[in-house]
Amino acid sequence: MSVHKDVKKVTTHVLQTMKEEGEKISMLTGYDFSMAKIIDTAGIDVILVGDSASNVMAGHETTLPITLDQMIYHAASVVRAVQRALVVVDMPFGSYQGNSKEALSSAIRIMKESGGHAVKMEGGQEIIESINRILTAGIPVMGHLGLTPQSIYKFGTYVVRAKEEEEAERLIADAKALEAAGCFAIVLEKIPADLATRVAKEIRIPIIGIGAGGGVDGQVLVVHDMLGINNEFNPRFLRKYHNLYQEMLGAFGNYIEDVKSGDFPNKSEQY
Ligand code: KIV
Repeated sequence: MSVHKDVKKVTTHVLQTMKEEGEKISMLTGYDFSMAKIIDTAGIDVILVGDSASNVMAGHETTLPITLDQMIYHAASVVRAVQRALVVVDMPFGSYQGNSKEALSSAIRIMKESGGHAVKMEGGQEIIESINRILTAGIPVMGHLGLTPQSIYKFGTYVVRAKEEEEAERLIADAKALEAAGCFAIVLEKIPADLATRVAKEIRIPIIGIGAGGGVDGQVLVVHDMLGINNEFNPRFLRKYHNLYQEMLGAFGNYIEDVKSGDFPNKSEQY
């Protein structure tokens, strides 16, 4: 069902209406102009300039090393490509935790220098002061709970979060706090489907899941993962829509062969 496919520009209000009318929200990550142009043309609702750029674009083991300048570079590239989607930009590790004034100036830099439409921040009640300050500047904020990769050294592992009652209750309280603060949506990453469904029912704003089951208001995947570019990442929640790893390997191999054999370029490929 795509009630809102004729919407010329997706806004936070459109996403809220989608939730209220039962239309699922589609979201993918994007980090560069060329890929973002294809994703937007396909009709995606939200493009997340994720700090997963640290992993898939820069090859870091975690999302922690990516800087504010680098996030702004990726986001500006995506914004130049996009006509319809809402562009949400991850605030990188170290740009908002613990100091709400620094959080506001980081968010303002993202909005001014990239042209993005909203920011995303990992955490619950512990970052509420930063969220409040950013919201006072009129910058829409998307929350992110459950497995929050910027805290990987606290968790120690990327396993499913909030399986125990205590952590599940804390997550629900955090989701309510984010909603009360004025966040326009929340990403729930890698938590039990029943818990995510409960949050989506109890919370009025859209809940977007990744590894959180089908009972939420929308889904997000990392674009390199769903295209099968990295053949070493195969979590249970990931559906691969292509095997680009094999296709690209084949294409690069054919090119190398053609160059070595002198088959490329032929007469019609020269001036
Ligand atoms: O950075 C990212 O790609 C994300 C998604 C996994 C939600 O935060």
